Amino acid sequence: MAIISSKSQPTDPNSRKKRASVGSEKTEKSQSRPTDDHLLEPQETTDEQVNPKQDESIRPQRICDYIGQKDLKEVLAIAIAAAKSRNETLDHLLLYGPPGLGKTTMALILASEMGVTCKITTAPAIEKPRDIAGLLVNLKPGEILFIDEIHRLSKMAEEILYPAMEDCRLDITIGQGRSAKTRSIPLTPFTIVGATTRIGALTSPLRDRFGLIQRLRFYEVDELSLIVERTAKLLNTPINSDGAEEIARRSRGTPRIANRLLKRVRDYVEVKASGPITGEIAATALQLFNVDPMGLDWTDRHLLQMMIENFNGGPVGLETMAATTGEDAQTIEEVYEPYLMQIGFLQRTHRGRLATASAWKHLGYSPPEEQLSLFP
Ligand SMILES: Nc1ncnc2c1ncn2[C@@H]1O[C@H](COP(=O)(O)OP(=O)(O)OP(=O)(O)O)[C@@H](O)[C@H]1O
Ligand SMILES: [Mg+2]
Repeated sequence: MAIISSKSQPTDPNSRKKRASVGSEKTEKSQSRPTDDHLLEPQETTDEQVNPKQDESIRPQRICDYIGQKDLKEVLAIAIAAAKSRNETLDHLLLYGPPGLGKTTMALILASEMGVTCKITTAPAIEKPRDIAGLLVNLKPGEILFIDEIHRLSKMAEEILYPAMEDCRLDITIGQGRSAKTRSIPLTPFTIVGATTRIGALTSPLRDRFGLIQRLRFYEVDELSLIVERTAKLLNTPINSDGAEEIARRSRGTPRIANRLLKRVRDYVEVKASGPITGEIAATALQLFNVDPMGLDWTDRHLLQMMIENFNGGPVGLETMAATTGEDAQTIEEVYEPYLMQIGFLQRTHRGRLATASAWKHLGYSPPEEQLSLFP
């Protein structure tokens, strides 16, 4: 966090004063409305950069504040109650699903519900055996070790995890060649919560060592509306139900996007409008930020347009899509495609990706006959 704020500090010696005045401007906003005249000036920092903690303050802390994902909450509530009644640690849990659906949030909630701390790491940071071994031996009883992007664990780190997860044992090899010896160190019982956007990329021995494997699904509009209303309350931003629904509908089924869009609409209201966020204000603001009524952004539309204009809707291979649009293939596969498939705009076939008739219509094209017969 220190790095973020020091990076964002302008070199101007008066910067402190300037920032102080940004802050005071905010507290006086009821008297003077900010203007957008100076928006292109490069040295100002945004509210989020100055206050990176804001994201943490809107993260739900308890399972009852975690909106939606009914099945997941039910399964975990049972697991928590059972573990607590037996005085045991929670079974290892694997959470998978597209980015921003609440995997990290759920890991933190689990820790607070179990009354333990949660250590957070990410697979690329524990590449070497000593990194993962160090983390494991320092865990306190019952603690949760959250490993993000667990599909990116190195082979060596994975092999250390197998006996640790199964038998609470750390096997380490000392020395090399014929003089090498293996030593086993007992570990205290702990819980690993792994998170991944690509369950298919996990090796099966690792996957099989998780007692609970749970998928997070995209959120419905009414669930996202509740999330938007909750966040707006925490941010002291007045919003009516139409406003929350309009933002929810454009959030690609994803809480992180819902919160982000809410903040953009809040900025818009502060500068260009007044009163609570209404449906109309949210729609106008989000149109300005290039988020269309289905929640598609510039890249989504660019991908679909490219498929329609250059390949008559497909099938197009993933690599070709990446090369034609300049996007990274993995980002297309993990970030863009899941939502486009969810809303029925894209199909994955063994010959490549297809833009459906609804995608053609949404972008203002008339779908060819064969597309209509495939996806009426
Ligand atoms: N069920 C929920 N209810 C309310 N807010 C939520 C919920 N799930 C997620 N959020 C909000 O969305 C934000 C993103 O969630 P989180 O960081 O847990 O996503 P993630 O699945 O870990 O994403 P990534 O795969 O990118 O790491 C959080 O800051 C939190 O405020
Ligand atoms: Mg996360």
